[in-house]
Amino acid sequence: MTDVASQGTAPSQAGKPVLTNRQGHPVYDNQNQRTVGARGPATLENYQFLEKISHFDRERIPERVVHARGVTAYGWFEADGTVGDEPISRYTRARLFQEKGTRTDVALRFSTVAGGRDSSEMARDPRGFAVKFYTEDGNWDLVGNNLGVFFIRDAIKFPDFIHSQKPDPVTFEANVAERAFDFFSQTPEAMHMVSLVFSPRGLPASYRHMQGFGVNTYKWVNAQGETVLVKYHWLPKQGVKSYTAEDGATVQAQTLGAHTKDLYDSIAAGDFPSWELHVQLMSDDEHPELDFDPLDDTKVWPEEVFPLRKVGTMTLDRMPEDNFSENEQIAFGTGVLVDGLDFSDDKMLVGRTFSYSDTQRYRVGPNYLQLPVNRPKVPVNTNQQGGPMSHGRDDVGGNPHVNYEPSITGGLREATYPTHDEQGPVVNGRLTRKRIPRTNDYQQAGERYLLSEQWEKDDLVANLAGALQQCRREIQERMVWHFFMCEDEWGQRVGEALGITADDVRGLPPLQSQTLTDEEQQRAANLG
Ligand code: HEM
Repeated sequence: MTDVASQGTAPSQAGKPVLTNRQGHPVYDNQNQRTVGARGPATLENYQFLEKISHFDRERIPERVVHARGVTAYGWFEADGTVGDEPISRYTRARLFQEKGTRTDVALRFSTVAGGRDSSEMARDPRGFAVKFYTEDGNWDLVGNNLGVFFIRDAIKFPDFIHSQKPDPVTFEANVAERAFDFFSQTPEAMHMVSLVFSPRGLPASYRHMQGFGVNTYKWVNAQGETVLVKYHWLPKQGVKSYTAEDGATVQAQTLGAHTKDLYDSIAAGDFPSWELHVQLMSDDEHPELDFDPLDDTKVWPEEVFPLRKVGTMTLDRMPEDNFSENEQIAFGTGVLVDGLDFSDDKMLVGRTFSYSDTQRYRVGPNYLQLPVNRPKVPVNTNQQGGPMSHGRDDVGGNPHVNYEPSITGGLREATYPTHDEQGPVVNGRLTRKRIPRTNDYQQAGERYLLSEQWEKDDLVANLAGALQQCRREIQERMVWHFFMCEDEWGQRVGEALGITADDVRGLPPLQSQTLTDEEQQRAANLG
């Protein structure tokens, strides 16, 4: 067995207690959940993963464990009936999209991620962009962010990642750069998201002036049961505007809730913000020709190859009357889809889908779907009953005694299947814990750096240097190494600000969790 410390990868591992689950079982792999094949779906007997994530979901009461600070607004989505210049029915049978001019009511919640319920909205942080469509087929939630990618690609890492963003568990000191960069420095797949969060886009000028993205890869299903992979993009008609760190500090000196206030003020003034919804489509397969995996949420799909195609427009025109029942208790989840929309095997998406409704049964209560803001605007007839704060039983069709199905004496019946067969992938693979094969952690981050305008690069470097100056040297060096791996100039400039050169970091071996491609090994050998 190779001695980790002697490779020079992580001398700080020595002497650390071994990670276990709550049953006292050692955790041998804390990076990859068990899936069917390296890219495949997760399984339910996955005790370590389920224990870890269920426990995480129960860490806070009553505020959201993430995205606690946020604001809801209401409006409508109007469909084009087309996707770009093609009829949308070619790709999805989802009814809300089919007819030009069809309007669907929506509730949207914008949020920051890391801070508590009344923390500052001027934090450098991704913004949540969660839309609930109250469709004629029941609810559809599209739970995304404003940056288009994410820090990690496997849901099993989410609790660790969020802990690194939250206050110290001993001192409760908040905004500790060293905690966040300790994790980032050990997480190469985070570099793309780091390049965005520390750029001007990490501090939007308002919720109205930011984009939204579904981030994870979903599927569309047409009437023939054929599927395509899809990514969602919301483009603000108001344009995209950002603040510098100085702008943010000036606003924060006046108020912690400037973005919420901006939304209330503009809607009260009749200045209704709106976003176009566009999608990118890809055939539903592994795409071996691409240098990334289409199910990897740390990647964007190049728009020149997978063009944006418009499907409709959303407008917000009304604000909540009660923050608690409409903003605090609103509950979104990635599992909430309607016919014609489907999941992919994206390992984040599958983990998220368990996590959202799990946390909401705890945070809001098992009857959270009976609350007006969460309740679909179509009839809901179930045989579910009881539980804390039950708001009564649903309509069970004339004979209230029959709370079961099937029955010859009354009650509810099953719906008739649509004309197609149940659509689902054929899955075949060994149960395993493995990274996806095409990680390519640095290329898109480096390209993004190169494509940035000069002022954006300057802002990125200054923001990163400012945060990294608060970190210990080994974290600084590892981060500079990652930046060099993305793009020489980026590594050079952040390094200069920290007094670290390419020579200082060239000898660093890859992380234990990393397998560099030949090209990446070449790059590591010639950094700078
Ligand atoms: C909120 C889990 C990744 C966007 C939440 C909440 C949980 C959670 C537990 C609180 C929900 C509530 O209390 O109602 C996870 C897990 C993830 C993950 C386990 C990874 C496996 C992501 C990603 C995005 C995202 C990649 C963006 C694409 C959001 C948004 C909210 C949220 C927007 C706030 C929803 C609201 O406004 O109520 N997440 N999340 N999450 N998450 Fe995630």
